[in-house]
Amino acid sequence: MNCNLVLIGFMGAGKSLIAKKLAALLKREVIATDECIINREGRPINEIFRVSGEPYFRKVEKEVVAEVSRRTGVVIDCGGGAVLDPENIARLKENGTLFHLSATPDEIFRRVKTQKHRPLLNTENPRKKIEEMLAQRADFYAQADFMIDTNGKSPKQICEEIIGLLELPNHQ
Ligand code: S3P
Repeated sequence: MNCNLVLIGFMGAGKSLIAKKLAALLKREVIATDECIINREGRPINEIFRVSGEPYFRKVEKEVVAEVSRRTGVVIDCGGGAVLDPENIARLKENGTLFHLSATPDEIFRRVKTQKHRPLLNTENPRKKIEEMLAQRADFYAQADFMIDTNGKSPKQICEEIIGLLELPNHQ
């Protein structure tokens, strides 16, 4: 079982928490694309968006995705917008199985409303923005190999669901 486990999905879907738990359970390394970007740039995501703009952030994100996609046997926690670029999806799929962690707009709003580190949700009406962005992104997230509905499930249940899918016979 040497393929990468790649977690994709909207902000607040629980990718980072689940990636860390999965990595611990499976004794694998975890790589977060956002963390790679922050380390590379030496500044937080909010500042990259504010000073250099979203296109610049996406350019760095694409370079990071290309690098981490070359790894094998790791858990990759992707920023929510990483899959908006079809080349990123293709690269992540080369060595990886993609899991889309989904949640309802209400659940996402509940999880992100007290957090301030996501520039795209620092708006007047984040609840509405979440709904709009989820609709715009649905086709991208649908390209995952597996869809994991996280609503009402504990992190442990979500990890067990993912590990169960990995044990299916068509996985190496
Ligand atoms: C983004 C998601 C964020 C981060 C950036 C943009 C997006 O990552 O990459 O703020 O476009 O959905 P998380 O999904 O880890 O919050």
